[in-house]
Parts: sequence; structure tokens; C-alpha cells
Amino acid sequence: MYKIPASTLFLGKNLLFMPECHSTNTVALELCHRQAVPEGTLVITNQQTSGRGQRGNTWESADGMNLTFSVILKPGFLAVTNQFLLSIITSLAIHDYLAKTCDARISIKWPNDILANEFKISGILIENQLMGQQFTNVVVGIGLNVNQQQFASAFASSMALVSKKLFDLQEVLEGVLNYLEARYLQLRQNKVDELKADYLENLYRLQELHSFQSMGQEFEGRITGVDADGKLRVLSSGGERAYGIKEISFVQ
Ligand code: BTN
Repeated sequence: MYKIPASTLFLGKNLLFMPECHSTNTVALELCHRQAVPEGTLVITNQQTSGRGQRGNTWESADGMNLTFSVILKPGFLAVTNQFLLSIITSLAIHDYLAKTCDARISIKWPNDILANEFKISGILIENQLMGQQFTNVVVGIGLNVNQQQFASAFASSMALVSKKLFDLQEVLEGVLNYLEARYLQLRQNKVDELKADYLENLYRLQELHSFQSMGQEFEGRITGVDADGKLRVLSSGGERAYGIKEISFVQ
């Protein structure tokens, strides 16, 4: 059970809690299709039976241990071509909150995984409804590992693992929503240069020499930045190129 957050202006003021559901993103999208929903509507559950991740992956989260929720935004002011800014504000909000709360190195792994000491602590899935070239509804889905301490994946972490204590889920939710609202308002005020600079400042492996894989080939390169359309810029011996999400992966 979650309470309506006291400290936000509009995020979470309309709250739909389900003890269990298939996926909060799917529920939120269905809600948007069925009826007019206020901006900031929050769909949250203790347990997803079909939690969805990026690139068609699943999102696993132990029952009642973590945060799994979706927020509905209506960024009618944003050009569809700038939709990567929604990834930027969400990544930064989670980054801001964790950097303040956890004694760990928090970074953003392109496009929008959040790492704590290089282990994945949070994932983001953003899904849009468009009308022509305008956003009508955007569902921002967030999975944040809070109190779970054992994972099937060797690359996962949680707030409890890095901080060696348990957290109150309602408090964590309110903290993340506060930062998400602040970053969203920054975007609404068109402070795009600041947002991009903050994203780059916290980008995992920026300018470091590492291995990547693209089209079955492994190569060494340095991340130099991210294009306006969200593509990752990597400089290698073959020159600098921009890669889409399905075109490149990090080699550990
Ligand atoms: C990823 O890193 O692959 C993205 C994971 C996103 C998981 C969240 S949990 C709440 C929301 N509902 C879903 O089905 N997925 C997102």
C-alpha cells in the first residue's frame, strides 16, 4: 500500500495501487487508452507478473521488496524528435536521488540504466502515445531495486546491498518522485543545455577506452557524447560514429 506523496506538486497525486499486476507500464497505457487521466498519475504495485524491460527483456523484482511503478506525463511542449530528453530527465532524477541517499558511485549507463558501483540498480522503460507529431501521454516506467539482496543476475544491485541497511519504500518513492518532478519542470522551462550537461557529467565510461560490440564485431573506443536523437557517439580507430540502441552493446 502506498500513500499519495505529500511533497510533490502534481506527481503521484492521482495514485493507483495494485498489490499485483502484469506490468505497471501496460496498466498505465491501458488507462490512457480508456479515459482522460491527469498528468502525474502514478501506477504502482508490489509485484509484477510480467514486468517489461528494454529490448524486449523482462524485469524481475521480488514481491514487496523494491519499487516498480509508472508515471504518466503529458509533455505536449516537447517535439517528438527530442524524446531522448525524457530518458535524460528520468535517469537524472534517479541518479540525483541515489547519489544523495546511497554511499556508492552512481552513474548513468547509456541510454538509461542506473548503476551503483557499476552494478545495475535501476531500469527505465519509457513508452509513448502520439497524436501526429505531439506527445499525448508518456508512460515513464521505473524499476528501482531497494531492499532485495539476492538476484539471479550477477550484474544487479540494490540500495540495501550498497548501503547495508533497509529502506522505507514510501520514503524512497517520494524521494524519487520529487527529483523526477524537479527534472521535468527543468525540461518544461527549456533548460535543455543544463540537462544535457548533467547527463554527460554522470555518463558511465565517458571518454574512457573500453570494448564495445557492434554487428558481431568487437572493437575498442571512447564514448564522446550523445546526439540529440539519443544515439551514442563512439570514437574508435575507424573514426567517430553514432549508434542506436540496437546497434551497439558494452563489453564488460
Ligand atoms: C530495463 O532496464 O530493461 C527497463 C526496466 C523497466 C522496469 C519497470 S518496472 C515498472 C515498469 N513496468 C514495467 O513493466 N517495466 C517498468
